[in-house]
Amino acid sequence: MRAAHPVVYPLLELARKPVLRVPGLGVLVRDAALLRSTLMDTDTFTKTGPGSPSDLWTPVLGPAVLLNMEGADHMALRRKLGSLFAPAYVEPLAAASLPTAGLTARLTAGETVDLVAEVKRFASAMISQLVGLDPTHVDEELFDRVSSITRFVRLARPRLTPAQVAVARGILEELTTHAREAYRAGDEATVPGRMRALGLTEDEAMGAVGAFVLTGTETLVSYIPRLVAVLIDSGWLPLIAAERSLAEPAIAEGLRVTTPSPVMLRSVIADGAIGSVAVRPGDRVILATYAANRALGEFDPATNVAATLKQLWFGAGTHFCLGAPLAMAQIRLTLDALLEVGPLRIVARTPARGVLIPSYASLRVGRAS
Ligand code: HEM
Repeated sequence: MRAAHPVVYPLLELARKPVLRVPGLGVLVRDAALLRSTLMDTDTFTKTGPGSPSDLWTPVLGPAVLLNMEGADHMALRRKLGSLFAPAYVEPLAAASLPTAGLTARLTAGETVDLVAEVKRFASAMISQLVGLDPTHVDEELFDRVSSITRFVRLARPRLTPAQVAVARGILEELTTHAREAYRAGDEATVPGRMRALGLTEDEAMGAVGAFVLTGTETLVSYIPRLVAVLIDSGWLPLIAAERSLAEPAIAEGLRVTTPSPVMLRSVIADGAIGSVAVRPGDRVILATYAANRALGEFDPATNVAATLKQLWFGAGTHFCLGAPLAMAQIRLTLDALLEVGPLRIVARTPARGVLIPSYASLRVGRAS
């Protein structure tokens, strides 16, 4: 967290109050219950007003891409996309893009593996599925180009500059060229083709592809290596290998203590209050999910505090993470592959600096002797 956000993270830590108005930033919320009630109250809080995600992403992705929509149109688009994220669809999709058997084999043979590079390859393969590209044409560089877009985002700067918008649009247009071809061909074996069959217009489908790529790849590349590091550092990995029923609480606890999407943003559209702090239309609300989740204690799959949070790390209410089933499928597959190897050790680690989503730049692991 500190490597990614050297200024904002210590500030979040200093703000001990559950809700606090921070001049120049907005109303900061760092309490899980208040955070949830804010997310559920769509009469007062929106993702489409000033300082909200729509200010950031509409210039890049267009006006109708779920994460910058509200109301009936938002619900209608989510309903159309629903079956794309049903476990029956995402589990084979994840399995096809994650060659995890190779990971198990290399570690078992005594090789040292950079898990970040590995998960980047998985994520790039996932992007290729989403945009209808042949998986053999994707590499880590594709992932790096996508994450260069989110690197532009700063909490204190609610909008991207025109130059940043132009770069981001260029990268996404390049990706959606393939998605457009797949959509037009109507081949249901591809995700864009399937979207067409589900009744999405071409623009809706391209917007959705852009939103998936932006929201769904970096979060996983952040989370999976961090989960593994937490499991090794805390000594839980061998315990979970011996008792697999602990894997699900460990994944949930890992998501709680790392919270890969550490902050959510809303804009106020009606007079109201968050706890003891009054809010007015136009206020910007910063929901500090990471701070709220961390305040509940250290990683512990046995007590599993995470179970009380109803997956707050994936949001709550109408914008709850659409990709959660896909994310969970990928996390489970990777963790299973690692648990097969037996005890692991961290050979070297480097945190990523200047990124939006805190993560490792590299996490080299090997079999523990
Ligand atoms: C560990 C991985 C992930 C985490 C922690 C995560 C977290 C979140 C959170 C917190 C939100 C709600 C934001 C808000 O309300 O402001 C969200 C929304 C969303 N996520 Fe995820 N996400 C993950 C992976 C994915 C994946 C793999 C995909 C798809 C490929 C995805 C697609 C989306 C979409 C489309 C939305 C917008 C939903 C809407 O506005 O209706 N996410 N995610």
